[in-house]
Amino acid sequence: MMRAHEAGALHGQAGDRGPAWLRKPDDVDSLVPQLWAANVSKVDGVLTVAGESVADLAEEFGTPLYVVDEDDFRQRARRFKEAFAHADVYYAGKAFLSVATARWVNDEGLNLDVCTGGELAVALRAEFPPSRIGLHGNNKSVAELRRALEVGIGRIIVDSVEEVGRLAQLTAELGVEAPVMVRVTAGVEAHTHEYISTSHEDQKFGFSISDGSAFDVVKRIVATPGLRFLGLHSHIGSQIFVTDGFEVAARRVIRLHAQIATELGVEAPELDLGGGFGIAYTTQDDPSAPEDLARGLTKILDDESAAAGIAVPRLSVEPGRAIAGPSTFTLYEVGTAKVVGLDGGASRRYVSVDGGMSDNIRPALYSADYSCTLASRHSGTAAVLSRVVGKHCESGDIVVKDEYLPGDVQAGDLLAVPGTGAYCRSLANNYNHVPRAAVVAVRDGEARLIVRRETEDDLLRLELG
Ligand code: LLP
Repeated sequence: MMRAHEAGALHGQAGDRGPAWLRKPDDVDSLVPQLWAANVSKVDGVLTVAGESVADLAEEFGTPLYVVDEDDFRQRARRFKEAFAHADVYYAGKAFLSVATARWVNDEGLNLDVCTGGELAVALRAEFPPSRIGLHGNNKSVAELRRALEVGIGRIIVDSVEEVGRLAQLTAELGVEAPVMVRVTAGVEAHTHEYISTSHEDQKFGFSISDGSAFDVVKRIVATPGLRFLGLHSHIGSQIFVTDGFEVAARRVIRLHAQIATELGVEAPELDLGGGFGIAYTTQDDPSAPEDLARGLTKILDDESAAAGIAVPRLSVEPGRAIAGPSTFTLYEVGTAKVVGLDGGASRRYVSVDGGMSDNIRPALYSADYSCTLASRHSGTAAVLSRVVGKHCESGDIVVKDEYLPGDVQAGDLLAVPGTGAYCRSLANNYNHVPRAAVVAVRDGEARLIVRRETEDDLLRLELG
């Protein structure tokens, strides 16, 4: 039974003792390795990343702080690149893009997916080669398209009929050719949160395969001077753990490639199956290795192309979360702790930290689960069911909904939340005029600020008074 609650139905369930998947740890000080970046461990109870202790990081850079294990990020990027050796890997910059990360992605030889003029500007500032950038977006402005064409972007993933017209005009005006793919919806229900599932029919992205509009727009593109058709693009959603959805989508997309070849006489050389590969936020998540994903997707493509009687198009994929997510944890300082009685005599400890929904809105937006550890010291105290909350004026401002933390966590302690490298800083906001947190990259015992913390002056700089 749900109890009415000002933060909405997701919060305040009667008798909530924590979800069924949450296990009380034998040792509350220990880390669950699969949730943390490769170079993170505890040394005498203190969380350490690539030789830097979080106590030092907090002192030097303040909290809340996004801490990136740079080698872990690079390693995941490289692993995707190597696993998909016969494909192109585009890092999805929307997960987290900064000048430094764009450089890492370039160093590791991956391509880059951007979805706005702003992301493109960051990539260009990092001197990312435009020919290895793909531009997404369901409503790209003329200015965004113009910039992309002017710099010689590698591909534009078309998502509307209007865009075809805009590209026809711009290519004529600039005297250039636009390499384009077409974003399609394959009608697949990815089993993830509704807001991050993108290939069922009733949402804003892409042209439907089933009602013929995908075929129609390809026909229009092929007949439009200045546009070069590369192939189809399907992204079925995010935080997906099973490959079935990709299989169904690939089959439908390849059938459309075959129809295009037969009816329009055009062979589409490329096919993009998007990103969406899930990561472990808590012990309930069991992600696939890039090698297994590569094997699975390549086989699907080979089999379906053979069945459709077409040459196998070159595959590309766009992982964002799976590269950036696990590389980073967020470091917070505890400010208050209190115990709240639950129905039936149980209790929950509320631990407030100095950030919250401005640095990680995913729990509020998608009911996303996270994990957490006491990062600054050992505690011999027994674990108690805890909820880590932020400092914002909103009861849905939850950082970690359910976690066992030592019962003595108190003001001044540092807490660390793993898996915050994707869609946390990139979705960060200034709710309640909280300045956005800094991002620090740690490698070989050296910490380097890659995105500085916002200041009060930054907050006030747009005010015209
Ligand atoms: N390609 C396209 C066309 C996409 O739209 C996306 C994500 C990706 C690739 C990368 O997906 P990934 O591998 O990172 O799952 N804010 C949400 C996720 C939104 C994803 C939007 N598109 C979240 O925090 O879960």
